[in-house]
Amino acid sequence: MHITVIGTGYVGLVVGACLAETGHDVACVDVDAAKIADLQRDVLPIYEPGLEELVRRNRAHGRLAFTTDLPAALTDAEVVFIGVGTPPGSDGSADLSHVLAVAEEIGRHLRRELVIVIKSTVPVGTAARVAEVVAEHARFPFHLCSNPEFLKEGAAVEDFLRPDRVVLGVESDYARSVMAELYAPFVRTGKPILFMDIASAELTKYAANAVLATRITLMNELANLCERVGANVDHVRRGVGSDGRIGPAFLFPGPGYGGSCFPKDVKALVRTGLAVGAPLRVLAAVDEANERQQRVLFEKVRAALAAADVPLEGATVAVWGLAFKPQTDDLRESPALALGDALLAAGARVVAHDPVAMSAAKRRYADRELGDRLRFAPTSYDAAEGADVLVVATDWNEYRHPNLARIRAALARPIVVDGRNLWDPAKLAALGFAYYSIGRVT
Ligand code: UGA
Repeated sequence: MHITVIGTGYVGLVVGACLAETGHDVACVDVDAAKIADLQRDVLPIYEPGLEELVRRNRAHGRLAFTTDLPAALTDAEVVFIGVGTPPGSDGSADLSHVLAVAEEIGRHLRRELVIVIKSTVPVGTAARVAEVVAEHARFPFHLCSNPEFLKEGAAVEDFLRPDRVVLGVESDYARSVMAELYAPFVRTGKPILFMDIASAELTKYAANAVLATRITLMNELANLCERVGANVDHVRRGVGSDGRIGPAFLFPGPGYGGSCFPKDVKALVRTGLAVGAPLRVLAAVDEANERQQRVLFEKVRAALAAADVPLEGATVAVWGLAFKPQTDDLRESPALALGDALLAAGARVVAHDPVAMSAAKRRYADRELGDRLRFAPTSYDAAEGADVLVVATDWNEYRHPNLARIRAALARPIVVDGRNLWDPAKLAALGFAYYSIGRVT
C-alpha cells in the first residue's frame, strides 16, 4: 500500500518506520524543513531504542521517504495517518489547530478514495470535525478511522510491532478491511484488533491513560501514608499487585507521573467531562495530587538537609536522572525538572547527570543566567563529587547497582534521596547514609 504519515513526532515517526518495515511504501511529511532535512540523512529528532536502525534500513530499501511536500505525498496515498501534536491549550483542553489544518490540506489534495486515520490523541468528536473539514474540500470519497496509539516512550518500536491490542474506530467496511490488512502483521501473536465506533475509540485512548495515571497516583498517596504509619510501600505494592484482578504493573510509587501524555491527557479528559456535564471527580483529584507529588523530591531534600543542619541556600545537590523516565531524552513534565527548578529558585546549586538527556536539558536552561549554579557532569560519580545530597530522580538501569562505597566517598555528606526506590534502605543505612526514599522508612 501507499501510505502517508503526517507529523514526524514520536507517534508519526514510529508508525511510518514500522509500516515501512512490513513492506509498504511510506511517505512521512512534516512542515519542519530542518527536521525533514535531518531525517533525509538518517538523523532522528528523538532518541528511541531501535528506531534509528529501522529508519536507516527502510530508507535504504526505498520504502520510507521524508518530505515537506504534502500534496505530492498524497498523490498515490491509500491511507493517510494524522500524527501531529495536540498540545494543551491554556484551559487544559487539547489544541486541535494542527489536526484541523492538516484535515483541510488532505481535503484539498487527495486524489483518490482513501482512509484518513487519526493517530493523534484527540478528544471525542474530533474525527467528526475532521470529516466535516475534509468534506468541504474533497472531490473523492474518504473514510475516517480513529486509531489511538498506546506506545510508551522508550519502548515505542517494540510496543508498535507487538501491541497488546489495536483499537480501530471505523464506520465503513472499506475502512475496516483496509485497516485490518494493515495491522495483520502486528497481531499474529493472537492479540486482538478491537473494532468499535469512532467515539468509543477516541475515548478509549484517554480512558486507558486515565486508569494508569490513577493507579500511579493512588500508589503515590499510599506511599505517603506508609511513611506516616511506618509501613513499607514495597510490601504493600506486592501484596496488592498479586491480586489477579489488579496485577503488578504501574503500581510503582515515585515523584509523580510526567511525560508528554499522562499530565496532558488527564487534564484534557477532565475538561471534556466538565464541558459535557459529566464531571470526572476522581480524575480531577488525580491531577491535583500529581501536581503536589511533583514537589515531593524537593520537600525531601529540604527536610533531609534541615535534619543535617545544612541550609538549602548554597547547598550542592547532585541529581541523577533528568528525563521523565528511562530510555528517552524527553524532559516534558519531568519530575527532575520540577526538582531542579525548585532547588534553583531556593538558591541551591545543582549538578546533574543523565545518560541521554543532558543535551536536551542544556538547551532547556540555556537562556537562564545561572552561572555555575547549574552544572552537568560527564558521569554519575562526577555529579556526586562534593555534593551535600544525592537525589535519584529517574530510574535508569545504570543507577540501579552503583558502587555505593564510591558514592559515599564522593559526597560531602552521606545523604541520599532516592525518588525511585532503587536501593535497599537497610544496606544504605548500614553504609552510614541518611537515606530517604518513597513510602519506606529506613
Ligand atoms: C504513556 C502510556 O503508558 C502509553 O500507553 C500511552 O500510549 C502514552 O502515554 C501516550 O499517551 O502516548 P509514556 O508517557 O511514554 O506512555 O510513559 P509511561 O511509561 O506510561 O510513564 C509515564 C509516567 O508514569 C512516567 O513519569 C513514569 O515514571 C510514571 N510511572 C509509571 C510511575 O510513576 N509509576 C509506575 O508504576 C509507572
